[in-house]
Amino acid sequence: MAELLGYGEDVLLVEEARGRTFLVRLEEGKEFHTHRGGIPHDAIAGLPEGSTVLTHTGHPFVVFRPLVGDRMFKVKRRTQIVYPKDAGWIVLALDLRPGARVLEMGTGSGAMTILLAQLVGPTGRVYTFDRSAEFLENARLNIARAGYAGRVEAGLLTAGEAFPVRGVDAVFLDLPSPWEAIPAAGEALAPGRPLALLVPTAEQLKASVGALQGAGFVRIEVVEILERPILVRQREGVRPSERMTAFTGYLVAGRLRLPPPGERPPASGPLGAGSSE
Ligand SMILES: C[S@@+](CC[C@H](N)C(=O)[O-])C[C@H]1O[C@@H](n2cnc3c(N)ncnc32)[C@H](O)[C@@H]1O
Repeated sequence: MAELLGYGEDVLLVEEARGRTFLVRLEEGKEFHTHRGGIPHDAIAGLPEGSTVLTHTGHPFVVFRPLVGDRMFKVKRRTQIVYPKDAGWIVLALDLRPGARVLEMGTGSGAMTILLAQLVGPTGRVYTFDRSAEFLENARLNIARAGYAGRVEAGLLTAGEAFPVRGVDAVFLDLPSPWEAIPAAGEALAPGRPLALLVPTAEQLKASVGALQGAGFVRIEVVEILERPILVRQREGVRPSERMTAFTGYLVAGRLRLPPPGERPPASGPLGAGSSE
């Protein structure tokens, strides 16, 4: 029997009619207010997820435990976050599994950190770094709210500095100048293991791929992912929506090779390009 919703946990209230969702921490005696009337938290606690609850005015909301994608989207944002359509490709490229140790730079709001932490599980570790103490503090709160504080070690570090971890299973970079972090990332990564990164401009892409090649990465793949929502309506017909998120970023992945016999270890020369945060 599924566990019932309880005080102290987050629930996702879904207003199906308008496609809106709200993430709410259940607290005894509190009330969730909507433009359609209030819902007492006490009316939600004790229900199985999937239940329908009514506001005082009789408006229905369906209540669920949030999925990891909901958690990512609902973080308190201080930066851009990785979009779910990109996150799926990235985590495949990173070959994440329970127990894995993954290094991330560009913690930002911690949205991607939450997904990484879910995938590495309770025996894995996410080491995440950012140069902004303010963003890190916000990310820590977001990660803790998702219940993953115990799996994540977050620290202050600027791209170009050595990472304080070695032999990690995967690296993910989401910062405006990934080429500055790639040589140190190559030193932190176990040989053969993958690195993925995300950049929003072609100039940053070119500099990043150059740095990956210089640091000994091979099997470098670059993609852009387009996601087109489809409207399925019983009366008006079925067709793509007029609106879509047209562009988020270029996704890059590669694998670290050991230097072949007779080759000197990779040079770590910086390559410049434009920046966007
Ligand atoms: C787009 S955000 C990352 C978003 C994050 N992946 C998420 O899903 O929430 C980029 C982050 O890179 C950090 N950053 C920018 N330049 C940096 C640098 N040179 N060294 C370290 N972090 C840097 C910024 O402080 C910012 O938090």
